[in-house]
This record gives sequence, C-alpha cells and structure tokens, in this order.
Amino acid sequence: MCGIVGYIGKKKAEPILINGLLRLEYRGYDSAGIATMEEDGIKTVKNKGRVACLLDIPEIDKLEGTVGIAHTRWATHGKPTDINSHPHLDNKKTTAVVHNGIIENYIELKEFLKNNGYEFLSQTDTEVIPNLINYYYEKENDKTENGFLRAISKTIKDLKGSFAIEVLNNDFKDKMFVIRKDSPLVIGKGEGENYISSDIPAILSFTRDFYLLEDYELAVLEKDNIEFYNLDLQKIEKTPKNITWDMSSAEKGDYDDFMLKEIYEQPKAIRETIGARITKNQKINLDELDFTKEYLESIDRIYIVACGTAMHAGLAVRKILEEFCKIQTEVDIASEFRYRNPLVTKNSLCIFVSQSGETADTIAALKLAKSKGAKTIAISNVIGSSITNEADYSLYTHAGPEIAVASTKAYTSQIVLLAILGIYFAETLGVVEKELEKIKEELLQVPSKIEDVLKDTSKIKVFAQKMIKEKNAFYVGRGIDSTVAMEGALKLKEISYIHSESYSAGELKHGAIALIENGVTVVGIMTDPDLKHKTISNLQEVITRGAKTFVVTNQDLENVTFDEVIRIDEISPYISPILSVVPLQLLAYYISKEKGLDVDKPRNLAKSVTVE
Ligand code: M6R
Repeated sequence: MCGIVGYIGKKKAEPILINGLLRLEYRGYDSAGIATMEEDGIKTVKNKGRVACLLDIPEIDKLEGTVGIAHTRWATHGKPTDINSHPHLDNKKTTAVVHNGIIENYIELKEFLKNNGYEFLSQTDTEVIPNLINYYYEKENDKTENGFLRAISKTIKDLKGSFAIEVLNNDFKDKMFVIRKDSPLVIGKGEGENYISSDIPAILSFTRDFYLLEDYELAVLEKDNIEFYNLDLQKIEKTPKNITWDMSSAEKGDYDDFMLKEIYEQPKAIRETIGARITKNQKINLDELDFTKEYLESIDRIYIVACGTAMHAGLAVRKILEEFCKIQTEVDIASEFRYRNPLVTKNSLCIFVSQSGETADTIAALKLAKSKGAKTIAISNVIGSSITNEADYSLYTHAGPEIAVASTKAYTSQIVLLAILGIYFAETLGVVEKELEKIKEELLQVPSKIEDVLKDTSKIKVFAQKMIKEKNAFYVGRGIDSTVAMEGALKLKEISYIHSESYSAGELKHGAIALIENGVTVVGIMTDPDLKHKTISNLQEVITRGAKTFVVTNQDLENVTFDEVIRIDEISPYISPILSVVPLQLLAYYISKEKGLDVDKPRNLAKSVTVE
C-alpha cells in the first residue's frame, strides 16, 4: 500500500526522503514522488515506477530544501502514471499534499470544486485535497497560520474515507502539517529535526521517540517544535513513546531477503513474545488484562477476527479455547465479518489479530464489534497501531518489524500469544488440566525446536527444485494440521505464484481429488496422533493417483513411503502449527528463489492492506 515520509530540519531533505521511501518499498507501490520547499516555493519530482528512478530525473539535483514530503503510491483511483503520482498540488501550485488511504466522496468534492472554477489534472481522489484546502484558505481570507489551519480542518471535515495526509504551503515555508484518520502515520522526534512516516522502520535509523497520532489529530511541525490540535483547533498535549526496536531488526544483514531473515528470527520473536508471560510452575502473567472468572463465565462466544495469515493464527488456537475454556469460538475473515451482521452481543469477546494493526477490514470489524457492545482485544505487533488505539485491551507480539510481505514470524508469534491468552482464560476459569501445564512447558521449548528445523534445510531446498515448474499444489491435514495447511498454501501462492489450495484431508474425496494427476504435489502435515491414520490413508489415495508427496510430521508413518518427509520434534497438537509451519515457509521461500522472483515484494501484494 502507499507509503509516506516527511522531513523538517536543517539537512537537505531530498536524500532523507529517498532513503525513507526505499525503506518503505516493501509495502508495495507503483509510483513515487517527493516535494520540497525551496526558496521560490514548492518543487515536486515524481514518476511512475521505482523510487530509484526518481534519481534519474535531472530536477531532483536542484532540490536543496530542508522541508519535504514524499510518497510511494499503490494505485487505487487512476492508473500508475507520472501525473497520478503524489505529491499533488492545488491549481495555484501553493499547496502540496501526499495522501495514504481513500477519499470515498471525491467525485462529489471534485464536482463542487469544478463548479467553483477548479481544474483537475489527475484521475486520483487525492487531488481534491490540496484544492479544497486552497478553496477554504482563499475563502477565509486570513493568511495567518490560524487561517490555514482552519482551511485544513474544514477540508478534513468534508472528507469521507481514510487518510494520512502531509501538507506543505508556500506561505509557511518552515512548517509542515499532518493529520490522519484510519490510516497510519507516526511522527519521529529528533534534535532540531522531525520526521514523518507511515511506518516506524522507515525512520528508525533517525530516532526511537515517536508521537502516535490518533484519528483527527492534527500536528504542525517545525524543525524544533511540534504542536498538536484536535479538529476544532484546540491544542492538545501528547507525549512521545520510545520504541525499543533496533535498526538492525529492520535491515537484511547477511540474509539475501527479509523473508529468510524473518524465518530465522522466529525463535527470538517467540522468546520475546513469551517474555515474562510464562514462568515454570506459575500461572500465566498477562498484566494487560483484568478478566475475572465471573466475566469469563458470562461470555456467550469468542470471535477471533483477522485477515490472511493472522486469521490462520486464530484458527490454530480455537482448539485451546473450546476444549479447555469450553467457550464456543468462531474465527472470522474480517472482510466477511464486517458485512454479515454477526450475532455479536455485549456478552461476546472479540479478539482482533493484525501484525500491522492497520488492516482496513480488521479495523472496521473491530469498530462494528464495539458498536454492538462487545468487549474487544487487539493483538498486534506494532505499538500504537490503529487496532490497539481502538480496542478495549491490547496485547503485543514482540516479533520486531516484519518487512517481507509474506508473514512468517508474525504468524508464529501470534499463535504463541493467542495460546498464552487461551491458557490465561482457562486458568482464570479454574480449569486444572495436565495438558495445560504441558503446553506452557512446550511453548518455552518451541524456539529451540524451531532452531533444530532451521539447522538443516537441504532436503526442503532439493524438493523445492522439483516443484518450480508446477502449476498446482495441494496442502492437506486434519484438525489443527488443516489450519497450518491453509497457511502453507497461502505462503506458496503469494511468493511463488503457483496455484495452491489447502484442504481438510477428509474433504479431498468430495471434489478436489479429481485434480490429482501424475506429478502434482500434495503436501501433508501430520502432528496429531489421533488423526494421523486418517491423513495417511488420504495421502495414500493421492499417491495411487500419481501425486508426489512432501510430508511434515513428528509421527510414525507406519511404513508408508512418501517422496520427502521432514521430521519435526514432538510437540503438543494444541500448538503444533508454530513448529510445523516452518518447513512450509522454507519450501515456499526456496521455490520463489529458484524461480528468480522477488521474494520480499511479490506482485500485486502489499504488506499492510490499509484499504478495503
Ligand atoms: O497486518 P495484518 O496481520 O493485519 O495483515 C493481514 C494480511 O494482510 C497478511 O497476513 C497477509 O495475508 C500476508 N501477506 C500473508 O503472508
């Protein structure tokens, strides 16, 4: 999705902005641009294509300004073209704007502006913003900063949709204006300089102190001062938050790709996520929650709502919540949940899982659950992200920044945290089960079990070579293994572009088996001793029809021969996806590499999906 960077300080802004945009490339984009404030006013340089191509445009060398805004665009309204790239200017070329998000009522606003003599150069929704600001600024006829703030505030009140906006204006050469609603934006506080970004990692090398803007908060930045206002232009006080992520966690280091680095970071991410939450022979420690037995007994249903990989993490823990806590648990896709009028009541507990915390559908689903009176918990990897601002309670995974579009360490950390949450519920409810103690112990051991898988990946690499020419693949498992099959299939399709489907192994016979023919790969996952015989039978059925099989298991395979078997350690079937997913992540990674694809930035995808 789109990315935003801004700089105001003493240094030349252009290289800082380009550097920030390069760090945001992982979000996915199709065009890029910057605007700086020069002595004779705003200058823009923009193009369709990569950030690096901006450096080939001669005008960029003339940008000397120390105040600037920058943007990578992921087209929503209007094709990727130079003209549609941000920044956009008003007709008088006095106001420049970059914008993330979508202005839903832009057609109506465009009509209004056209009727007032404004012309439009682009097909974007964004171009209405600088023109509307200009319209109100002229109408106000007050050329003070207050007059300009009023123009921004009036503009914002007219906008429907989501936005994070940076604004420059020729009358205020030493200032930058930013505001957001439902789209991420952070302000990095430096010494004599300040930074803006849609994502913390882009400016992590400059500062660790961040102001997190809430919806409809407006900030006016100077190089050594920041003032905050609400939409009625009353001043508000904000304190910066210190972020503990270090810069190396947002760099590739010795790895070829972020995805591989993040796969290898999983043991660390899990250890950090567990932190002091689990101590041997003690109850789970979740300071962030204050739930009582009575409250938990009053819950009519738990909903876990998320998108993509985060939703798969939810599926993996349903078993813990239902079997130990005896609370009916539904796992929902956020984009469906928000439109299906779910039977959420004030006695429902809704848990929203999102690595970025900025996924538009997940945010909307959370707002819906709140409007129905449910209690809400956000599970996110990003401190101060939108879902954590919105929810009643927030729990953080501590996976560090996840840069690769394909989510890996966030998934395993989310399962760990959700499992901890489930055990906390069970303990608070007074459930005493040996298995719960075992799961706690195994959560502590799982990082070293993952390290074992990562020690030798040669068999996975060899099998990946056999798959690169394939068009289809199937992932199967039963029970909890079927949830990890979903995640494995998603990993494969998103970075290797091989069509892959996951099935509960027992469902194959009800249709999909018709697609099995000579050489098709079927990946089987078996970690549940109670279900392995069944899955083995299903795999035999596809072998008979010519499939080649790749199996991830810690079970005895009863003398059945598969083309490749990746052995993982014993692990409780309540949390086995944390371990069994690792060979599947690696398989997808090596196939993508073998095919020469861009592993970290797969086509058409964005890291953080901030529009519907
Ligand atoms: O930031 P979120 O966890 O809300 O993102 C949800 C999905 O967009 C994300 O997990 C997506 O499915 C990944 N690309 C999968 O690898």
